[in-house]
Amino acid sequence: MRTHLCAAVTAAAIDQEVTVAGWVAGRRDHGGVIFVDLRDRSGRVQVVADPESPAAFNIAEQSRNEFVLRITGGVRRRPIGTQNAELPNGDVEIVAAQIEILNRAAALPFQLDDESVSEAVRLQYRFLDLRRAPMQNALRMRHQTIRALREFLDAREFTEVETPMLTRSTPEGARDYLVPSRVRQGAFFALPQSPQLFKQLLMCGGVERYYQIARCFRDEDLRADRQPEFTQLDIEMAFVDEATVMNFITEMIRHVFARAAEVELPAAFARISYAEATAKYGSDRPDLRVDLELCELTEFMRAVEFKVFSAPAQHPDGRVAALKIPGGGEQLTRAQIDHYTEFVKTYRAKGLAYIKVLRAACGREGLQSPILKFLTDDVLRQILATTAATDGDLIFFGADHKNIVNDSLGALRLKIAQDLNLIQRGWRPLWVTDFPLVERDANAGRWTALHHPFTAPREEDIDLLTEAPAKVRARAYDLVVNGVEIGGGSIRMHQAELQLRVLKLLGVGEAQARAEFGFLLDALRYGAPPHGGIAFGIDRLAAMLIGADSIREVIAFPKTQQAACMLTGAPDEIAAAQLRELGLQIRRRHNADAAEE
Ligand code: AMO
Ligand code: AMP
Repeated sequence: MRTHLCAAVTAAAIDQEVTVAGWVAGRRDHGGVIFVDLRDRSGRVQVVADPESPAAFNIAEQSRNEFVLRITGGVRRRPIGTQNAELPNGDVEIVAAQIEILNRAAALPFQLDDESVSEAVRLQYRFLDLRRAPMQNALRMRHQTIRALREFLDAREFTEVETPMLTRSTPEGARDYLVPSRVRQGAFFALPQSPQLFKQLLMCGGVERYYQIARCFRDEDLRADRQPEFTQLDIEMAFVDEATVMNFITEMIRHVFARAAEVELPAAFARISYAEATAKYGSDRPDLRVDLELCELTEFMRAVEFKVFSAPAQHPDGRVAALKIPGGGEQLTRAQIDHYTEFVKTYRAKGLAYIKVLRAACGREGLQSPILKFLTDDVLRQILATTAATDGDLIFFGADHKNIVNDSLGALRLKIAQDLNLIQRGWRPLWVTDFPLVERDANAGRWTALHHPFTAPREEDIDLLTEAPAKVRARAYDLVVNGVEIGGGSIRMHQAELQLRVLKLLGVGEAQARAEFGFLLDALRYGAPPHGGIAFGIDRLAAMLIGADSIREVIAFPKTQQAACMLTGAPDEIAAAQLRELGLQIRRRHNADAAEE
């Protein structure tokens, strides 16, 4: 079909005859001569058709954008003044001797170089969208990422093993996607939320070092960094502890960044405990490129008169914290502060108290704030001392349940950093450790696993399982890069008794545990080795490496926020015959039912 890829037609090919094939990226009729930009996977080349080759000229005249052409011609240097410095081969062109139309293209729903086209249209015509250079690069970067991961693991005696897609529920905290069984009517498979249980069984099966590029399915609220089906690099190792896994994975991530993106990460990654991360940054996945930190005020706010501060300070789960914005008093207008007040309300904060520090040395007189009248001189002095505020600073306050304070001030920290251009350049990988094993589910009033129910508690905290579950630390670790959680894992429980005990704490009694996880409990009983692992979000990793805001940019055929595929129209209704075969009947939700719910 062709002798050269478009980008390979360079000055080295001058005076040669070449054949190229590709799509018409653009066509200009210069009265008498027609220029065609031909594009293939490698890039572009300019083709000139002039009336001296009437057959070729005729076809060039008929061609439209995205026609598929095969072109033969001689390569020549472009005349002085007509070179395109933006193309690597912008100094040459092919003089068409023969053009063949391999296929025509109907009028396009959007022009490929139109950057304002909506994502809905891009997704509906993804096959066209994929022809654009950014998408081609994204898919290649994703491939490079996976290749570098495989390269690293394959060189270290890992075996890639495929685990089932049609399986039982694998609890990772999301809703399951279910598949009805035809053979056993009324029974359902669940698509895996992760291969968690199978990889533990592989450890019990003596595989010792496993990985898989695994598709996972989670029916949860979608965001820019969440898709209903996504890809994990899933890893599990036997005879390891946290330090071994974290050191090993640090090396792996350094390898991927170096190979796929030519980025040199530090030899050791920073580490922080969950407690310190939430205290300082209001988040368990802090972005260290931002220097702003929260200050703890809970302790001394207990005794103040101002109820907005003292009530949460006195509550066992309350928190009062400050976020100081250096120079913010000068930079932020009243309107912006009001805007941030609305912003934190989306995180359930009730308000956003603030103090502008005009002259720190003047005490009360040097401050400006709607809450001054509620605070004594002493308290004001304490606030200035704790936050180390100086002239021109602005101090924001959050006072509420600690989760609300953390979520709202944590988000405000990032928002302001973005607005005031305070995000530093570069890569800041961070291990977050010592997560609590369980947390109280506010709605259900019971304990739920923070990670998943198979994560081991720290040895020295096991006794707390009964008396003070909230204090038990997990042997878990997350890898966070620039505020994105790209991976998370843990050391698992390898003794059935301990696993049963934790399940019981989570409200899963022995009978239910046997029914749902009997196979795991059995496997643990027959000589399970100590084991642990981790899983990475490949989509997040690839998106990060190309600097995309959304993982949809690195997924060939992603779903929308409504968990639907614009291209194929999935999910869709199925035929009555198919339903009958599965023993299913659809119960339409009538308006009355909806109102009832
Ligand atoms: P976890 O649930 O933390 O751990 O998932 C691991 C990583 O997968 C990515 N991820 C997602 N990416 C895109 N869309 C989603 N909906 C989505 N959900 C998660 C994240 C996350 O860090 N079995 C455990 C791992 C283990 O313990 O070894 C697990 O699945 O980058
Ligand atoms: P109020 O007494 O409710 O008018 O609040 C006085 C100031 O405190 C206002 O600036 C509010 O925005 C702020 N505020 C109210 N509730 C909170 C809260 N929970 N955390 C932080 N600031 C608050």
